[in-house]
Amino acid sequence: MYTQSFNVPDADGQSGAPLRAVPHDTALQAHFDAAIDADGKIEPRDWMPDAYRKTLVRQISQHAHSEIVGMLPEGNWISRAPSLKRKAILVAKVQDEGGHGLYLYSAAETLGTSRDQMFDALHSGKAKYSSIFNYPTLTWADVGVIGWLVDGAAIMNQIPLCRCSYGPYARAMIRVCKEESFHQRQGYEALLVMMQGTAEQKAMVQDAVNRWWWKCLAMFGPPDADSPNSVQGMRWGIKRISNDDLRQKFVDATVPQAEVLGVTLPDPDLKWNEARGHHDYGQIDWDEFWAVVNGDGPCNKERLATRVKAWNDGAWVREAALAHARKQQERAMKEAA
Ligand SMILES: [Fe+2]
Ligand SMILES: [Fe+2]
Repeated sequence: MYTQSFNVPDADGQSGAPLRAVPHDTALQAHFDAAIDADGKIEPRDWMPDAYRKTLVRQISQHAHSEIVGMLPEGNWISRAPSLKRKAILVAKVQDEGGHGLYLYSAAETLGTSRDQMFDALHSGKAKYSSIFNYPTLTWADVGVIGWLVDGAAIMNQIPLCRCSYGPYARAMIRVCKEESFHQRQGYEALLVMMQGTAEQKAMVQDAVNRWWWKCLAMFGPPDADSPNSVQGMRWGIKRISNDDLRQKFVDATVPQAEVLGVTLPDPDLKWNEARGHHDYGQIDWDEFWAVVNGDGPCNKERLATRVKAWNDGAWVREAALAHARKQQERAMKEAA
């Protein structure tokens, strides 16, 4: 998971999904506000303001897209995993990500959008997904580093979402976070093994850390000062912790893990600040971040083309499933007649 892009509008400035307009009603609004103030849950049949619904559709659908696009960089290594054990772990992890996509598409559908609309927005390039997946996985160490750092950053982002005010999203995130924890551990453990190996293996891990570190910090989204929508997200109980606070938590948690692993995080400004009780860190390259979000990353075109091809290749499966369902229904109706 992968929530960097939650601050990023889709290409049409919206969710890419037309939503039903809900007439405004002061009493219903007051009921909604009271539920939010009491830190309660909003459920699919409850009245909710249009803007709340739209924000959630954008966020949950971007999250779902990120999960299934996130299968691609690592899926690339399934056929080249160095042992049967690593292959079995990686297959399980990549399947988990597909499952996360399914829980999240289902959660978004409860808001009145359809899976076809969401896929259409993804395939036409209107919808965003986390730009971390627009980078290539060059070596086996990248698979370990993605588990450790990318899934680690995802967990940091997603644990507060288990308390999101929208019930279906919050409940989906509880299961997702449990699985993400396994993803993070398998990655870290794979790296620990490599760091006990040859000088070449150690260098491979360090190189992967060098390439992924800054991109993982950017996963938390733009600085708070440049995230005007975050305030409303917090008011609605969708966002619980600010981008900068989450990023800081991630840095503080990761530095000791890097020490145990024996790798250097590629930031000369990274040091403990006694007065703040946190680590200071250097400047993130936001120009690169926005360039990749806007389509200019090394793998944007390849990722989208792979998803579109998978969708087209799967057309016969969807048609067969629908034909089977129709037959079953006809048979049931005949039997009932
Ligand atoms: Fe995931
Ligand atoms: Fe994951």
